[in-house]
Amino acid sequence: MRVVWSLLLTVLALPLAAAPGGGELYAQNCAVCHGADGRGGVGVPLALPSFLPSVSDDYLAATIRHGRPGRVMPAFTQLSNAEIQAIVAHLRSWMPPGSKVVTLSSQAVKGDVVRGKALFAERCAVCHGANGEGGHGTGVTFSRPRDLPIIAPALNNPGFLAAASDQMIKTTLMNGRDGTPMVSFLQQGLSERDIDDVVSYVRSFAAEAGWKPGNDDTPMLEMDSPYTLAETVEAVKRAAVGKNFRIIREQSLENGLFAATQESKTAHIVYFCNFNFINQALALDPRVGLFMPCRITVVEREGQVKMMSINPKYLSRLFNNAELDKPCEEMYQVYMGIMEEASL
Ligand code: HEC
Ligand code: HEC
Repeated sequence: MRVVWSLLLTVLALPLAAAPGGGELYAQNCAVCHGADGRGGVGVPLALPSFLPSVSDDYLAATIRHGRPGRVMPAFTQLSNAEIQAIVAHLRSWMPPGSKVVTLSSQAVKGDVVRGKALFAERCAVCHGANGEGGHGTGVTFSRPRDLPIIAPALNNPGFLAAASDQMIKTTLMNGRDGTPMVSFLQQGLSERDIDDVVSYVRSFAAEAGWKPGNDDTPMLEMDSPYTLAETVEAVKRAAVGKNFRIIREQSLENGLFAATQESKTAHIVYFCNFNFINQALALDPRVGLFMPCRITVVEREGQVKMMSINPKYLSRLFNNAELDKPCEEMYQVYMGIMEEASL
C-alpha cells in the first residue's frame, strides 16, 4: 500500500515538478532502443546525417506520438506536446553542424499505383516485405553482421503512414539514406516518374491499414464534435463530472504536433481523475501511473473540432498484464462515454 501511495504522490506531483528537458526525456524514453547517442539498437539509428536533415519536425513528432503499432516502436501517448517538442529539439542537436532541414512541399504525389506495385515487388519487397510489412526483427543487428546491418522498417504501418508525407517518402527514395542499406533509387536507375508510382503504391497501404477509432490496435481514440472548440471543452468537463470524475485542470497549448496542416490552431487538454479508480489500477500495475490523470484533448483541425484520448484497450495490450484488461475496458467505456455525451 505504501508503494502505491508514494507512486500516487509522485504522479500527482509530476505536473508541479520542473519540466525535464529534451535530453533527459530522450534518456528516459528512447535511449534504451535508439542508443544514448542515437546510433541505434533495437531501434533504427536516429543521429544519421542522412536522416535528420531530410525529415520535418512534424514527422518526428508524429512518429513519437503514434509509434509504429505492431512493431517495437511504442506510441508515446503519455507525453505532452511540449515534451515531444523538447525531444525533437534534442534529436536536432545531432544535426551535422551547418546543415538545415529540407523544406518539403505538402503536395500529394500522383503516380500509377498498379505500376508502383510491380516496381515495389521488384525493388523493395526483398527488404521491406511483400506487403510493406517490414523486415523480420527491427533496428540494428549487431550480432549478425552478415544480415542487413539495419532492418527495413514497416511501410504498411498506420503509424508510419500517419507521420510520413508523400514528399518525405519520395525524398527518401530519391536520395536514399547514406550509411544504411536504403540506397538512392534515382542512382539505381529508377526515373522520377517510377518513384512517383512507387510512392503512390506505398500510400495506398493506408486504405488497407484500417486504422479506425475503437479498434484495439489504435493508440488514440478520436471523435468529431459538432461544436466549437470552447463549447466542446465545456461539454467534456460536464460529461466527466457526470461520470463521477473530478476536473483537475485544463491546459491550452499552441500546438506543434497537429500542425501538419497549416490550418490547425490550438489544442486544449482537460485533465480529470477519480481517486478510487486510480488506486485500484495502480495497485494492479504501477505503470498505469504514466497515463494518469485521465485526459481528453480537444483540437481543431481544418475547421473540424475533434476529441482525442489514449486508447486504454491498446494500453492493456501493450502492458501485457491480463489483470489490467478489466480496468482498461472500464476506462475505454469512460473515455468513449464522455466523448459520445460531449458530442450529443
Ligand atoms: C537493401 C534493403 C532495402 C531496399 C531494397 C529498400 N529499402 Fe527502404 N529502407 C531500408 C532500410 C534499412 C531503411 C531504414 C533506414 C534508416 O535506418 O534510416 C529503409 C527506409 C525506408 C523508408 C523510410 C522509412 C522510415 O521509417 O523512415 C522508406 C519510405 C523506404 N525505405 C522505402 C523503400 C522503397 C519504396 C523501396 C523500393 C523502391 C525501398 N525502400 C528499398 C532498406 C531497404
Ligand atoms: C522499445 C524500443 C523503442 C523505443 C523505446 C523507442 N523506439 Fe523509436 N523506433 C523503434 C523501432 C524498432 C523503430 C523502427 C520501426 C520499424 O522497424 O518498423 C523506431 C522508429 C523510430 C523513428 C523513425 C525513424 C525513421 O527512420 O523514420 C523515430 C523518429 C523514432 N523511432 C524516435 C523515437 C523516439 C524519439 C523515442 C523516445 C520518445 C523512441 N523512438 C522510442 C524502437 C523504439
